[in-house]
Parts: sequence; structure tokens; C-alpha cells
Amino acid sequence: MTLSFPVTPAANPRSSQERDEILANPGFGTNFTDHMVVATWSADEGWHDGKVVEYGPITLMPSAAVLHYAQEIFEGLKAYRHEDGSVWSFRPEANAQRLNRSASRLALPQMDEEDFVGSLRALVEVDKDWVPSASGGGEKSLYLRPFMYASEAFLGVRPAREVTYSVIASPAGAYFAGGLKPVTLWLSTQYARAGRGGTGAAKCGGNYASSLAPQLEGIEQGCDQVVFLDASTQTYIEELGGMNLFFVMKDGRIITPQLTGSILEGVTRASILELSKELGLDPREEQIEIEQWKDGVRSGEIQEIFACGTAAVVTPVGELKWDGGSAPSTAGEGGGEVTKSIRERLLDIQYGRAEDIHGWMTRLV
Ligand SMILES: Cc1ncc(COP(=O)(O)O)c(C=O)c1O
Repeated sequence: MTLSFPVTPAANPRSSQERDEILANPGFGTNFTDHMVVATWSADEGWHDGKVVEYGPITLMPSAAVLHYAQEIFEGLKAYRHEDGSVWSFRPEANAQRLNRSASRLALPQMDEEDFVGSLRALVEVDKDWVPSASGGGEKSLYLRPFMYASEAFLGVRPAREVTYSVIASPAGAYFAGGLKPVTLWLSTQYARAGRGGTGAAKCGGNYASSLAPQLEGIEQGCDQVVFLDASTQTYIEELGGMNLFFVMKDGRIITPQLTGSILEGVTRASILELSKELGLDPREEQIEIEQWKDGVRSGEIQEIFACGTAAVVTPVGELKWDGGSAPSTAGEGGGEVTKSIRERLLDIQYGRAEDIHGWMTRLV
């Protein structure tokens, strides 16, 4: 570990009453804890000046490279409070590794896995009262958002020589407050999320900026999320704007699109590939044509479809719509049995209700 994170306590932390009110109904991504992590990298000194300071506005020169050339990456993971009060995160080293893969693609500096986990621990330690309680079997958590950006004040297209790393945290409620509800998906044929040799496998802000126009198109069509196909042939299913996809087949196979370089390698996806073996399923990473989806739900070969990611864990997929047609839902009211059992299994591990036989949980506090 090369970084340490000394704490300067917030001058104006929220009162415990204000905090409790937020934690009673946290929503998603709108409230933030009292502190944040900041660290600086420079070409001369490497990573230095790690610290935990009061959450608040950051100062950037208008010429900061990130504002012009989008040299930025981020991660997303959660801190879960267990019944005994301890606080844990799920496979944070996988997020550290993905951050470094994203960093390579965006010409940003590497960060030690230990420094990454240390930065999460430093923030959660000081803001531990912001981790919602596990009571009532709820799905509340503290969402952690590490991010790294080109803070150098320089207008030139080259990798920045000064970079800032930060972690902020936001209490999160159950994604489906009123019970699981299948999402309706819009098949984007006009737009692609990522192309061959592009940044699709990296978690960089630009990928999400370019998903907003198709997302708006989907919403206009009455859909919740967008499915993207491969950009070259428009034949193979890739993923949603912020989640990976799984198809549960009649014969026990459970298939997710194979990683092609343009799909984000989800930590939830990787975990489900492992867990589904324990549930007696036959996990596969394969190319899947969009026509197989359309035919499979009609013939019954595809029994369930679900999306997965840190925020919503596992989400049943309902109807698929596209310009001029639709394929019916296989999800029923609240998702199929396999979808529900994988979701429960993951949540039980994350909230410490099931034994962590994989060693996936890391204690933060
Ligand atoms: C494009 C995209 N795909 C998939 C995922 C799921 O990844 P994970 O399971 O690591 O949250 C995410 C969320 O991070 C995402 O943004």
C-alpha cells in the first residue's frame, strides 16, 4: 500500500436526526455522506496526498483536460451492513482490477489494489453511521463511487500529467421498493454502445454519455432500458446501458453474451456464472443472436431473461420492443424461479445471511 488517508473531520456534518431521515428513505444517488476521499497522481510523484475530507465542491480549472477530452473512469460497488453491525463489501478487488483495466484503456495511471480497498475502508470507517441497517431483510446499502479523472489544466490531446482519484458514497434504498418488477427493453437499432477497438469494456463516462440519446428513445417508446447489439453486424446481443444480460434455457443452460471487448465485464455477471453451477445450471458464455431471443421466447426454448449489475442486483426482463415489433415477456409478474433464486442467493451472501464459501466478502469496518 503506497497511500494513506488521514482524516480531516467535516466541519458541518449532518445531525444524526438528518441522517436518520435520509436513511429511512435513501432513494438512489441523490444524498451523499459527510466525507469523501481524494488522492492525487502526478507523472513526477506517482500517487500521493491521499486524504479524507468534507464532502463538497471540487475546484477545477476550466482548462482541466477531463472537461474537454473526457479522460475519466469510475467504479461502482456497495457496502452492506450485516446483522452484527459489521460492514462488508462484495469482491472489491474485482472492482480494483476493472478500474485498472479501464485506466489502461483511458491512459490513466494504475492504482494498487490495496490502495483502492484502503480508500473504501477509509471512507466507510469515518462515515460508518451512513451504512443503513440490515434490519427487516431490506436491501439498503451504501453505494460507493470511486472515480479518477484528468485534472491537469492543459488543452492538448495527450494523457494528463496530473490526475485526481476520489471516492464518494451515497446511501441506497432497495432498487425495487415495491417488489420485483420486470423491465421492458428497447432494442436500439439506430445507435451502438461500443464498437470494435473502442472503450466498451472500460467503465468510462463517455460510454454513458453516448447511451443517453438511445435511452431517451427507449423511454419515448415506453421502455425502461435499452439493449445494444454489436456495432459491426447488428446481429449479436451485447448488454444494456448499465447491466449485463442472462438467458435461462429450457435445457438448463444459462447463457450470457461472451466478452468481445465491447461489453463491460460485470462483477455480478462473473459471480452469477459461478453461482449458477451451484444451483445445478450449466453456465455458458456464448454469442447470442437477437433472432434467438425473438424465436426463443416464442418457442419456449428461452424460459427466463434477466439483467444484472451492482445497483439492481438481478432484474427480471419482460417484453422486448423494437421499431415495428415486439417479443413477449417470459417474466410473469415478478420474474421466473431461476431469476429469483439467483437474486436471493447473491443477496444472502452480500448481507451475510449465507456462508461466503467463495471468499467474496471483504470486511471494511
Ligand atoms: C455497461 C454496464 N454493464 C454492466 C454493468 C454491471 O457491472 P457490475 O455487475 O460490476 O455492477 C454495469 C454496471 O456497473 C455497466 O455500467
